[in-house]
Amino acid sequence: MSEQKALLLETVNGPFVVSTVPILKPGPDQLSIKVVAAALNPVDWKVQAWDILIKEYPAILGSDIAGDVEEVGEGVAGFSKGDKVFCQGYFVSEMGGFQQHALIPADIVGKIPPNVDYAQASTIPLGFNTAAIGLLRAQPEGAGLNPTFDPNVNFSGQPALVVGGSTSVGQFAIQLFKLLGYSTVIAYASARHADYLKSLGATHVIDRGEVPVGSLAEAAKKIANAPIKIAYNAVGDNDSRAACIDAIVEGGQVADVSPEAKDPGNGKRVISIIGTSHHPPHREFGRILWKTLPRLVQEGTIVPNRVEKIPNGLAGIDEGLQKLKANKVSGVKLVAFPQETA
Ligand SMILES: NC(=O)c1ccc[n+]([C@@H]2O[C@H](COP(=O)([O-])OP(=O)(O)OC[C@H]3O[C@@H](n4cnc5c(N)ncnc54)[C@H](OP(=O)(O)O)[C@@H]3O)[C@@H](O)[C@H]2O)c1
Repeated sequence: MSEQKALLLETVNGPFVVSTVPILKPGPDQLSIKVVAAALNPVDWKVQAWDILIKEYPAILGSDIAGDVEEVGEGVAGFSKGDKVFCQGYFVSEMGGFQQHALIPADIVGKIPPNVDYAQASTIPLGFNTAAIGLLRAQPEGAGLNPTFDPNVNFSGQPALVVGGSTSVGQFAIQLFKLLGYSTVIAYASARHADYLKSLGATHVIDRGEVPVGSLAEAAKKIANAPIKIAYNAVGDNDSRAACIDAIVEGGQVADVSPEAKDPGNGKRVISIIGTSHHPPHREFGRILWKTLPRLVQEGTIVPNRVEKIPNGLAGIDEGLQKLKANKVSGVKLVAFPQETA
């Protein structure tokens, strides 16, 4: 059996170790993907620190993959060996991105359009899924703004708020609000990202260095030309959630990245997002998403995050995760290249 390099989380709260594991054959409906680029996410250090989401150790993590189709499983149509693809990894080892070859269900894989490279493509899957599931997916799992990606849906005239606009997820939420036709898209982020976030579709950026989160709701309401019915919380802590809840009108909704997020019981809805199209209840939505996303990227409607490349293949990932954990990553996505592992 052929072998590959993988980054193993060996035990609960254990270290990440580069190791050698077998290359698995794709099962029915799966693609075997040679992982060229794998983006890093906060969930990866959270799994290590908090022992969440993983059922079996040693585990291979990594939720963002871009690479080449290597082998096509039985029953798969529409993909061939050599296709350049991007997709979400998942929390079972065969589907993790922190290895040189991963197995992913073909129905939630997209082809990389020619205008983005592997590294850029790898910045999109988890962030975009988390933004889209929270905003577009039907209620109760999402805010139900456009579950079928219908191009005729339009919220012109309405305002929206994104707290954590410069996060990876927040950047995609801003772009989705623009796609949905919102007239006012207010982002809360550091001022140094203002021009970039405006290029993505924010109409206003409230500087989090100047306006404390406790004053954010008032500041957002002042900017908004109408009651705010929808907010996206890409930070997910209690203060940011309280600001979102305060900013929206009764009957309004907050899509929140935290698993702890709950309805406040005051006529406002808070959605706790499970941001993966692998999640069985999201699967149908995920299929629609992955059919639509390559076109949105190709036409420039959805642009990738800015990339910071990590050296040393899989061996560089641990240091990158420590930077994420220490809040030392701002407005960029860290991307590793598993094939460069020594
Ligand atoms: N529920 C899910 O399925 C799901 C999926 C994906 C992510 N998440 C969670 O969503 C969160 C964001 O993930 P990510 O990958 O998008 O993060 P990220 O890109 O790594 O976030 C870094 C950014 O966070 C911003 N930030 C930190 N504290 C902030 C605050 N109090 N207010 C506003 N901005 C703040 C910083 O902004 P500035 O540079 O502007 O200061 C920085 O640019 C994480 O907690 C992650 O675990 C959840």
